Amino acid sequence: FTVQVDQPIAPINQNMWGIFFEDINMGADGGIYAELIKNRSFEFFRPFMGWKNLGPVAEANYLILNRQSDHESNPRFLRVNTTKGTSKPIGLQNEGFRGMGVKTGVGYEFSVMYRQKTSGVSLRVELVDTLGNVLGKGMLIPSNTGTGWHSQSMTFTSNKTDAKAKLNIWFEGQGEIDLDMISLFPTDTWKGRKKGLRADMVQALADLKPGFLRFPGGCIVEGFDLSQRFQWKKTVGAIEDRQLIINRWNFEFGHRLTPDYFQTFGLGFYEYFLLAEDIGAAPLPILNCGMACQFNTGELVPLEELDPYVQDALDLIEFANGAVTTKWGKLRADMGHPEPFNLKMLGVGNENWGPQYIERLAVFQKALKAQHPEIEIVASSGTDPEGERFVYLDKELRAMGIDIIDEHYYRSPDWFLNNAKRYDNYDRQGPKVFAGEYASHSKNMFRSEYRNNWEAALSEAAFLTGLERNAAVVQLASYAPLFAHIDGWQWTPDLIWVDNLKTYLTPSYYVQKLYSTNKGTHVLPLLSEGQAVAGQDDCYASAVLDKERDELIIKLANTSATEKSIVFDIRGVKKLNGEAIHIVLQHDDPLAINEVAKAPLVLPQERKFPIKGSKISVLAKAQSFNVIKIKL
Ligand code: AHR
Repeated sequence: FTVQVDQPIAPINQNMWGIFFEDINMGADGGIYAELIKNRSFEFFRPFMGWKNLGPVAEANYLILNRQSDHESNPRFLRVNTTKGTSKPIGLQNEGFRGMGVKTGVGYEFSVMYRQKTSGVSLRVELVDTLGNVLGKGMLIPSNTGTGWHSQSMTFTSNKTDAKAKLNIWFEGQGEIDLDMISLFPTDTWKGRKKGLRADMVQALADLKPGFLRFPGGCIVEGFDLSQRFQWKKTVGAIEDRQLIINRWNFEFGHRLTPDYFQTFGLGFYEYFLLAEDIGAAPLPILNCGMACQFNTGELVPLEELDPYVQDALDLIEFANGAVTTKWGKLRADMGHPEPFNLKMLGVGNENWGPQYIERLAVFQKALKAQHPEIEIVASSGTDPEGERFVYLDKELRAMGIDIIDEHYYRSPDWFLNNAKRYDNYDRQGPKVFAGEYASHSKNMFRSEYRNNWEAALSEAAFLTGLERNAAVVQLASYAPLFAHIDGWQWTPDLIWVDNLKTYLTPSYYVQKLYSTNKGTHVLPLLSEGQAVAGQDDCYASAVLDKERDELIIKLANTSATEKSIVFDIRGVKKLNGEAIHIVLQHDDPLAINEVAKAPLVLPQERKFPIKGSKISVLAKAQSFNVIKIKL
């Protein structure tokens, strides 16, 4: 293979390798959002979902009241009266999200909103394991009385690590108290932020050094119907005023799923922007375009009623970038971030199709380009990369001069291998491409035994050489879905698996990371007999130059069952003399997976080797992905 170092083909977008985030598979609630109480405000479909009575209960000990008229976004609260019917202690237990993950020595902040006319009821709180042993406890004695609502919290420590703890709340004393937003958060959140995010999950994202964060999805942007679409304005401001909705993925397909999957929006648009900033990623929000999910037949807003949707987009730009004197810029500042979030890209629609999508998109495009020409618009061409629907959309999106086209493909390993040349002939002058959702999967993507195995990851590695080689047109790329909880997932594959305590990084994660942390600044020609290496003799390869580090980086996937000795002829540089780094991701078994709670089978291994002259010989094991880094 020849690599021509002095003839860069194109610069590489430094934000190219990013993250797709969606609250699917318990990615947000029960996942990265560290709240441990399920249904903290009693707003789920059934008000007591997630809660259980602990003691003998007279009917009137607990009432759920609804103040719809003056608290539309959070109407229900719990009234506890300890004076009715029983002299024994009464209490409630919250089951958490498939249990609560708690750790030895970590503090847990218990908080409530409450209202009481007179003092009388105290809350004795205890974390318990599955056998009922107390792991940590504390007492909250509400200190204010009157007709208004108050917030109060207290923190206690767990004396044990347990993935399946629960929280008991015993109501002591005599009297009546109203409660809402009953909450329990660990204090070891990401950056120690109060009521924040799970640190281990954010760290896994930060380690990818992502160029962008696309949020909040995915199909949840669209909703089953328009009433359940994602509306960013309902996810910002005080947490108790954010109106939850049923999750689009509630009970869908399902593995160990119960119909209690809601979006509480503790992780809302402000927190998404903050997360992007924290991990050094450009924010890429996707908004509803006036269409609900068409896989569920869909629902459309008539064109003449699209204005509020377009206004949401304009207001979002103000929320992200506007001066603190503007309405939405002020809200951002009030929430703690007077500096702009530096939004540069905005997606309109996710996997919507047909002329209905194009018509609606055109309305957004006109308004957005008139007021914010600085914002690049991302539009979706959907999931069917060879189908008629895709061909139609691609043609229309190009004709209307959309900035970036978002393509999705969940396909077999063979498809990924056969499509390594997909972008070789794409028009360099037209819209840029966002490979916005991709994952290779062996056989059935809704069965766990095929999830994220090495065969799938290797085929992704091979395919991504094609994205890298075509960085002139492919500007953004992200794997999807991102997270899956082992006790509640809708589908596989997923980049990162979690339980209530830990993260488990898949072979696909390591492939993504090897690309995003070795992205280079310029694409270089890497050829075999004058051709790009995209499947000849089961090899896939690409090369980039990192001008800042003065480094040549070669990626090579050998998908065959035999080891190969490859010689790279490095041209256009002075003779090399020094050391190269060779990172290998490999496994003999194509079905190998990195299993939860077990030592990972597929992990990058690194070695150094001496180089001299202009030819570099690399032994690429059977079924291996190799990254070779050479200091120039
Ligand atoms: O990544 C999961 C889903 O796949 C996304 O919500 C949707 O955009 C796609 O169909």
